[in-house]
Amino acid sequence: MDAKDVEGEIEKVLISAEEIDARLTEMAAEIDAYYQGEKVLLVGVLNGAVMAMADLSRKLSTPAQMDWMAVSSYGSGTKSSGVVRILKDLASDIHDVNVLIVEDIIDSGLTLSWLIANLKSREPKSLRIATVLRKPEAAKVEVHVDHVGFDIPNEFVVGYGLDYAGDYRTLPFVGTLAPHVYGG
Ligand code: XMP
Ligand code: MG
Repeated sequence: MDAKDVEGEIEKVLISAEEIDARLTEMAAEIDAYYQGEKVLLVGVLNGAVMAMADLSRKLSTPAQMDWMAVSSYGSGTKSSGVVRILKDLASDIHDVNVLIVEDIIDSGLTLSWLIANLKSREPKSLRIATVLRKPEAAKVEVHVDHVGFDIPNEFVVGYGLDYAGDYRTLPFVGTLAPHVYGG
């Protein structure tokens, strides 16, 4: 899927596929420099992080395994509440394992701070965070993020794993939706 397939539905492209690719290459180098050849378990948060996981993992020299979690945050409409339910838990035990959470986007930070507390209680060897996108203006809790792709304005975005009602996830770029799309 590309821009021509969603003509009129995307208001503007915030980050192109090429920009994402270039930034992920830099992030992979930062991550490799940190782990220095130690093994890491990449934990992707479904569904949004699928693109980031696939692309970032293939750029790492660090030996890596993958696991996945799915969580749903209770809240009103599109707002996250910080009350989180596990829909799918990790398949592996992370005790004494280097864990790197791979996220698509950090908005309020509520979901991530819950996830950090949950994973820390399992006593991993280390726990770090990588995210493609972050909205600094939307932060409700301070979460330390080790690797950030792009800081973006506080606007709803789609593409590169991010969806609106399930749609637009497969776009290779990150963009904002035209207002008429929300109107139904
Ligand atoms: P919090 O607020 O807890 O939320 O940091 C993080 C999760 O909310 C979703 N989210 C978005 N999804 N476009 C989307 O398609 C957005 O602009 C957006 N902002 C937040 C996303 O699932 C993320 O993991
Ligand atoms: Mg997510």
